[in-house]
Amino acid sequence: MRSSVSLFFTVLLLALISVPPRAPAQIPAGGQSPQSVSAQGNAGADAQAAAQAVIAAHQPLSAAQQQDVAPVQTPAEIQAAAKARAEAQAQAASKAPQAAAPVALTPPMGWNSWNHFAGNVTDKDIRAAADQLVATGMKDAGYIYVNIDDTWEGERDASGALHPNAKFPDMKALADYVHSKGLKIGIYSSPGPKTCGGYEGSLGHEEQDAKMYAAWGIDYLKYDLCSFIDNVMEKQAPNDKAAQMQLMIAAYDKMNKALKATGRPIVFSFCQYGWDAVWEWGPSVGANLWRTTGDVTADWDRIYSIVTQQAGLASYAGPGHWNDPDMLEVGNGKLTLVENRSHFSWWAMLAAPLLAGNDLPNMKPEIKAILTNRDVIAVDQDPMGKQGVRAYSEGEVEIWARRLSGGALVLGIFDVGDSRYSTHPFHLKLSKLGLAATQTGKNLWTGNAVELTENEPLNLVSHDVVLVRIDAPAVLSQ
Ligand code: GLA
Repeated sequence: MRSSVSLFFTVLLLALISVPPRAPAQIPAGGQSPQSVSAQGNAGADAQAAAQAVIAAHQPLSAAQQQDVAPVQTPAEIQAAAKARAEAQAQAASKAPQAAAPVALTPPMGWNSWNHFAGNVTDKDIRAAADQLVATGMKDAGYIYVNIDDTWEGERDASGALHPNAKFPDMKALADYVHSKGLKIGIYSSPGPKTCGGYEGSLGHEEQDAKMYAAWGIDYLKYDLCSFIDNVMEKQAPNDKAAQMQLMIAAYDKMNKALKATGRPIVFSFCQYGWDAVWEWGPSVGANLWRTTGDVTADWDRIYSIVTQQAGLASYAGPGHWNDPDMLEVGNGKLTLVENRSHFSWWAMLAAPLLAGNDLPNMKPEIKAILTNRDVIAVDQDPMGKQGVRAYSEGEVEIWARRLSGGALVLGIFDVGDSRYSTHPFHLKLSKLGLAATQTGKNLWTGNAVELTENEPLNLVSHDVVLVRIDAPAVLSQ
């Protein structure tokens, strides 16, 4: 038994620290994409052909080519003909549909209106949030997306065009304002006739809405299942879960294709609460992230319950496609300082999107310190995108591990117990992780260098975390 347990952890550690594949170069925080073109379907092939044509137009003609083209032409005529060809090719290239640049190569970072404002959010609040992301340094730390959640929608006119309601007088002007701050803007809709808040959804207007988002300059869409369940799935396929699932997949794919057809890079966020193992099929219909559970609330028990529901999902996450345990509640409700710290640490270990949802203009310094901790953000935004896992637990203490690019390892030691006497003191077993008896690293919350030793007693506070980055983990010799 003992040997099979130690074999298990040795295999686990090897999986955690084995030499990672070469990280893609230059992937910035916030899931922004480098300026490269990806080949996707026909649009990609067209774009590639156009790019090749442009390259070819700039190659000087070989002597043989010159002869083939016009053996009796003067050098001036040859030059003029080459120029005309190049111009024609450039014109063709500009008309060819361009594949949108890839998005969400690291988990998206930003702020979303729902957790703080819910149905009360206005244009003014979104502008203020953009201002605050800049003023607080959050933008510099990677928080790029300013996302309007539900309740912006008004009525459709005779042509089917959806207008924002009175809280959002001019969406294009708002998007321009957010962009002028060097930020990106997100919006929200539903595949059903109504959103969760009872506002107008996109059913039957997917292409029209996608085009409108692109025309406004929208960079991110959260698409929330809600009324599609009873209005379409349950109506069209009563009591047939498999058929309902197919209807849901088709609805997400419809908006996926509509977004792609705009040619604008738009992050596509699925919000259907983790139904029908969305992590298995979401990426094939365009999901850049997908909610894995129901809604988060600013409450320790709810946050911990969401964390436990992430078990088994790590392998589905990676650059461009992420598990989304829902938005951050850091700074909200009655979460204590240590609970806020653990919440943020878990989301970083889970390679989760970091969408703050707090009252930015009234953010306390200690909350700002959590949200802008660069070391913890770097864990979340690691370009390899390998999600962390719960490695082992003992009593009420859980040890999480995440492998980063460059061979580093991050350990998160969480005390999830309610009593200060639970599992106290806790003795860290590095050997259970396949690690040698002494490790040197950095405590990411204190910033101090630390040495971890086998069996070391740790005095953990209830609901707190010790997060340690070990750049060069020493493995237990066999
Ligand atoms: C659902 C979603 C939330 C939020 C609300 C808005 O509950 O899960 O994140 O978008 O709808 O109505």
